[in-house]
Amino acid sequence: MSGFERSETDEFARGARALVVYPELPGKAPVGPESRLAEAEGLALAIGLNVVRKKHYRVRSPRAVTLLGGGQVEEIAEMGRELEADLLIVDASLTAIQQRNLEERTGLKTIDRTGLILEIFGERAATAEGRLQVELAHLDYQAGRLVRSWTHLERQRGGFGFLGGPGETQIEADRRMIRDRMARLRRELEEVKRTRSLHRARRKRAPWPVIALVGYTNAGKSTFFNKLTRATVLAEDMLFATLDPTMRQIALPGVEKAILSDTVGFVSDLPTQLIAAFRATLEEVISADIVVHVRDISHPETDAQRDDVLQILRDLGVIDDADAGNQPRMVELWNKMDLLEGDRLDELSGISRRDDTVLMISAETGEGVDAFKAHLSALIAKGNDVRIVKLRADDGAAIAWLHGRGTVTHQIVDGESVSVDVSLSRQLWGQFDKQFTQVKV
Ligand code: GTP
Repeated sequence: MSGFERSETDEFARGARALVVYPELPGKAPVGPESRLAEAEGLALAIGLNVVRKKHYRVRSPRAVTLLGGGQVEEIAEMGRELEADLLIVDASLTAIQQRNLEERTGLKTIDRTGLILEIFGERAATAEGRLQVELAHLDYQAGRLVRSWTHLERQRGGFGFLGGPGETQIEADRRMIRDRMARLRRELEEVKRTRSLHRARRKRAPWPVIALVGYTNAGKSTFFNKLTRATVLAEDMLFATLDPTMRQIALPGVEKAILSDTVGFVSDLPTQLIAAFRATLEEVISADIVVHVRDISHPETDAQRDDVLQILRDLGVIDDADAGNQPRMVELWNKMDLLEGDRLDELSGISRRDDTVLMISAETGEGVDAFKAHLSALIAKGNDVRIVKLRADDGAAIAWLHGRGTVTHQIVDGESVSVDVSLSRQLWGQFDKQFTQVKV
């Protein structure tokens, strides 16, 4: 079969020894090098690599051949030998030529940020659509490299560089194989999407409010999700513990049922090939009633992470500045408050008390979780209509239905009839009207 379903790090078993390098390029660093390195290390750990050293290099003038400077590449090669590394991870986007030159000069298999994130998405994709999108992204990435690394492949395969020689024929065949496979995947995707939208349409008719959790990778979404649902979704000290949305039913005070959806962690510099795959995992967010943005408020780069998340939500059309009235309500959850101390804790607590779109919690200790649930209930109730309905006093089914699904604030029995003040979502009112008859006054 074609070798193209193999992943970039296939030949490196879990536990392979990796060097992680972050080249800081001129004029481009909203996030500090320490955080970048820590994040890249987290990404490497997420696919089970053993990071033996991480290092940041300042690159004054990026080189077309290796990105990093000659002396820097020398140093990396030396480090690789000394630490018996197998793999070099460069937290940047490398061209095919740079990747190949780095491999030759360091003697280490080299992957860049896109390759690394593709690996993680590949491991974590849980739904059919997510898997197909990731495979498509992978092929797209490889096809780009294949075309550009033509002469290299030709040399490797023993061609002589003549037009139409064995190298070129091989590349043509490889390219065709990739193209065919991509076409097949696209067809399969269409099919999967059709079934998926059927499921969604069915669920849309279910009247429960949908609450979606979003946030930068490692913010604590899965931990919080588990706290609310008491389910056991992967919660590891690992990036991307969740790729495809995980939906669970939750109970909130005064709200019989709501659906909570967990999503993949966001990262900055998301490779373009991965946007469709990423978007496929976020459809629940687009149709959510409430979007909860979980932030690691103890992280030194928490503001930059917030900006990245908001930018991605804008790109996906979840936030639309021009159409502010027609979008999900947003709440910010400042998580990991247990890691805050002294003045910072006081300052942030003060802000969250004054700003009703912000709540502080610790998903770990559970502090603030009940207050958050109450806040959610209030938000859901805000979108509700309050009505007074008049029913026959012996219509137990209708009365029980209202108590079960809505918030009843008042009820008076008047002889044969009963009048009930209830707050319900518009969709539920629609259901009620279809199912029950009120007494004519
Ligand atoms: P991705 O799946 O990568 O997007 O991550 P996530 O946002 O789902 O994060 P996850 O819940 O996996 O948590 C990441 C790490 O933070 C884990 O080690 C958690 O134990 C830890 N964590 C989560 N919430 C808290 C908290 O409130 N306090 C502290 N101290 N640690 C927390």
